[in-house]
Amino acid sequence: MLISVIGTGYVGLVSGVGLADFGHTVTCTDIDGEKIKSLQRGIIPIYEPGLSAYFDKNVREGRLTFSSSPPETLEKCDVIIIAVGTPSRDDGCCDLQALFAAVETIGSKGPDGKVVVIKSTVPVGTNRKVQNILRERYNLTETLVVSNPEFLREGKAVHDFFHPDKVVVGTDSPRAREVMEEMYRPLYLIDTPFVFCSFETAELVKYANNAFLATKITFINQVANLADAVGADVHTIAKAMGMDGRISPKFLHPGPGFGGSCFPKDVRALVQTGREHNLDMSLAREVLSANLAQSAFMATKLERLLGNLTGKTVAALGLAFKAETDDVRESPAIAVIEYLIERGVNVRAHDPQAIETARKILGERVTYHEDLYQAMEGADALIILTEWNTYRVLHVERVKDALRGNVILDTRNVLDPAAVQAAGLVYEGVGRSFKGSE
Ligand SMILES: NC(=O)c1ccc[n+]([C@@H]2O[C@H](COP(=O)([O-])OP(=O)(O)OC[C@H]3O[C@@H](n4cnc5c(N)ncnc54)[C@H](O)[C@@H]3O)[C@@H](O)[C@H]2O)c1
Repeated sequence: MLISVIGTGYVGLVSGVGLADFGHTVTCTDIDGEKIKSLQRGIIPIYEPGLSAYFDKNVREGRLTFSSSPPETLEKCDVIIIAVGTPSRDDGCCDLQALFAAVETIGSKGPDGKVVVIKSTVPVGTNRKVQNILRERYNLTETLVVSNPEFLREGKAVHDFFHPDKVVVGTDSPRAREVMEEMYRPLYLIDTPFVFCSFETAELVKYANNAFLATKITFINQVANLADAVGADVHTIAKAMGMDGRISPKFLHPGPGFGGSCFPKDVRALVQTGREHNLDMSLAREVLSANLAQSAFMATKLERLLGNLTGKTVAALGLAFKAETDDVRESPAIAVIEYLIERGVNVRAHDPQAIETARKILGERVTYHEDLYQAMEGADALIILTEWNTYRVLHVERVKDALRGNVILDTRNVLDPAAVQAAGLVYEGVGRSFKGSE
């Protein structure tokens, strides 16, 4: 099968590489010419564990190419996948400019009869609108649109592509369904569950899925704050809750709030879609404001520990929105750092992968350090903001030597409180201020 991918970001690139590994011939395109040039030279512009081996293999075997000129590749292919970004606009609506630009490219260049797969996360009604545009404006009456929302997680994207929990396919066309079964044949032949449904259901599955996970994180964050107030241990609570088969232990890890390129924007878009249908998605709205409050609360915790933030120096470990990615979009780490800067803190930042992406947001308002112990030099406090493994194995004596002060705020609960306290440092996590022997 010949596949053309429009939009070679986290989703487009991982999907392109994965589909090439399934044996298809894939061309990934992007409007960002620099990105395509870099990919043509064999340089992957994102950090995603495990991706480079599959990338190299499929390029070498001739199944994966990159082009900044989609029209040529569109003519020859059977399937066109749209994986462009759909970020939030200021009003919370989803910005569909890139998506409609891609649709225009397909419409104006297309021979008819292709299957257009929309992988980008789009509000309910978008797939039907795209189908109507292609049919009515461009007269592509045989072209079929399929909603195929993506559920991969950054940092585990390669694993998730090859082992998805589910593949959701929104279409009412038997031919489109067959093409999707063929495209995902290696998954279809094993026991990956496929959910075939309408456009609208597929679109809403994606938003409901992400909003539910964001709610779960927010719920445990609030329980963690309460656990701190009453002297309980949130990890024991989460573990016991997770033993209930109706709940599951996943996404019950407290922290500085959720972030990334999906959860915040998708919850906002769900609220907005509700509004358009005169429905108040009040729970989702509350999740958004509680999440903002959580990152602000981390700065307040640090203020309480230090007495006063103005003029203090703080080593911030972690910039990425989660471990194993260089993505800092809506990162709670950046949100906490912004609060600290606002309150007059000098921030010395470290991240194993995300310094360059963070620099685009924070500029020179913080100092960046490749060496994590160097980041701590002379700091009054240390705040851990991303759950990188390298922070789990901090050498406490080296931390003590490097810091000027003695405070550690571990917003990801990656350190062993007893070991930190035994070294004479003040430790605070999230929901771990229990005094018992749990
Ligand atoms: N990142 C994730 O973890 C994830 C997971 C599931 C779903 N999604 C969804 O997938 C979509 C893509 O997300 P992403 O994180 O890969 O985005 P991204 O920003 O990493 O990549 C999008 C790419 O599209 C390109 N692009 C924009 N307009 C274009 C056009 N007209 N023609 C060709 N290329 C164009 C951009 O240059 C960019 O390289 C979004 O809708 C997102 O919500 C993302």
